[in-house]
Amino acid sequence: MAAITPVPRDSNLYCYKGFCFLKEIMSPEFIDSLQDFKIRDDDVFLITYPKSGTIWSQQILSLICSEGHRNGTEKIETSERVKWFEFRALNPDVDYNSCPSPRLFVSHLSETLVPRGLKNTKAKVIYVMRNPKDVMNSFYRFQDISVLTAKSQDFHQFFEKFLDGEVFAGKWFDHVRGWYNHKDAYNILFLKYEDMIKDLRSVVKQISTFLALKLDDEAMDIVVKKASFKQMKNDPLANKETLPENIIDKRFGSFMRKGQVGDWKNVMTVAESEIFDKLFHEKMGDLSLNFTWEVDE
Ligand code: A3P
Repeated sequence: MAAITPVPRDSNLYCYKGFCFLKEIMSPEFIDSLQDFKIRDDDVFLITYPKSGTIWSQQILSLICSEGHRNGTEKIETSERVKWFEFRALNPDVDYNSCPSPRLFVSHLSETLVPRGLKNTKAKVIYVMRNPKDVMNSFYRFQDISVLTAKSQDFHQFFEKFLDGEVFAGKWFDHVRGWYNHKDAYNILFLKYEDMIKDLRSVVKQISTFLALKLDDEAMDIVVKKASFKQMKNDPLANKETLPENIIDKRFGSFMRKGQVGDWKNVMTVAESEIFDKLFHEKMGDLSLNFTWEVDE
């Protein structure tokens, strides 16, 4: 087994194979076992680094794939339709191997940790990314409600932890780079949070085309409406309201916080931003990936 290393500034996490896991929720043995999970050609995996728009994309995927969700005839939580692949504790009674096709999964796993069978198959991967300054800000604010991780005293302390990868899921740079560099091995669609903010309808169209699911205009209107920030914030089925209190402390906020591009400016200093830009250039400069950092760019 690969080495398990402690995470200096968060005793609730451990690092394994370049990823930081929550001690209470996942063991290394379980993580290793996921690599042998049997993939079907019609599986769909939605993959994100945390705070990149995961539940938003989960909602969109669920709405596109399920008429019962669109027309409101089925009252099922989004997280039951698009199941957490590695957080099995959230669907404890479900045998993922015998779920009917097409199976929809959501995951934060890095490219090196997903099932081996996902490579070179027809199974689909949708990878959603977000500009890392907003990811960092959203992650920082998330510590107010996240019970299972250590709280930083201030943003600067979190900034350093984030850059060192001492947060759940490890380094943002490694996650995005890993998936992007290995894109040719997967049947993968890359999406950006900021494009979803700018023109959600086009992104919904992109996803449905990728999934070969044709939606008429009326269905498309419903998806866009039900995936709006305002609707999702008030939709208990989309908003992870049933997450147990030992995971999320709802008294201090929700997954649906602000939903904007550029909110990092309200917390990051100019000096921090410059340090980040330099690092971003060093680590990602060779990739053809452009991010939108503010809305009026
Ligand atoms: P903020 O904290 O910046 O508001 P994740 O689901 O990966 O944890 O990501 C959470 C982030 O996605 C939060 O960002 C949340 O507000 C944002 N989000 C969720 N649903 C959204 C929607 N419908 N429109 C825009 N942003 C959304």
